[in-house]
Amino acid sequence: MPEKEYPFIDFSRESYSAEEMIEKSNSFFEWADERRSVRDFSDKPVPKEVMENILMTGSTAPSGAHKQPWTFCLISNASLKSKLRTLAEEEEKKSYGGRMSDEWLEDLAPIGTDWEKEFIDIAPWIVIVMKRPYEIQEDGSKRQNYYVSESVGLASGFLLMAVHNAGLVALTHTPSPMNFIAKALERPENERPFLLIPVGYPSDDARVPDLTRKTTDEVIAYYD
Ligand SMILES: Cc1cc2nc3c(=O)[nH]c(=O)nc-3n(C[C@H](O)[C@H](O)[C@H](O)COP(=O)(O)O)c2cc1C
Repeated sequence: MPEKEYPFIDFSRESYSAEEMIEKSNSFFEWADERRSVRDFSDKPVPKEVMENILMTGSTAPSGAHKQPWTFCLISNASLKSKLRTLAEEEEKKSYGGRMSDEWLEDLAPIGTDWEKEFIDIAPWIVIVMKRPYEIQEDGSKRQNYYVSESVGLASGFLLMAVHNAGLVALTHTPSPMNFIAKALERPENERPFLLIPVGYPSDDARVPDLTRKTTDEVIAYYD
């Protein structure tokens, strides 16, 4: 294979002193630690351009073989949001009413969730993250994507941080099973719903569970 068949471009970036790195990484951590999943939304509008920037930030995530196996459905249409809410609540009623194990319900108790998903109607934007296990080529044949869930999970994480950066809030919601979403949105056969993410401002009386996050010793295994 000729060496130059696939072009490479020069790459470098600004680096920092150890002190600067410590300061930057610590302040970034403290800022990231302020992010919370919010379930009480305001209906205050958020410009579409902000949402596009947030979604394009999600799309900068690394992905297996650079396939970027995601589609972000950006929904503001009130009747579509209402339809999604109704369908999500139908599934969630079944889940909370017996489909989830006692252990699962016990683990959810501190979060205070139930089958009601009012936020789908109220938040100005609903993002549906779709994953694409394969692409359909022009001749109709399928071409595989790689590490699809890992890639789409990373894109969703980047997206959530972009929401936080914009001074907005989001919820990572999984109204399970989520097949109803692909149907309601008439998505192509190579897409599967991955997450439903309402985005907007918190309501004036928003509250979040008083959770603590794991400590350094709990999440890092050192091999010095
Ligand atoms: C994959 C995934 C699925 C989740 N599904 C739901 C959900 O269906 N409903 C909900 O209210 N929260 C859901 N959450 C949010 C978690 O409850 C939340 O992230 C966790 O309680 C920690 O709170 P924090 O995001 O404020 O740090 C989900 C989070 C993840 C990562």
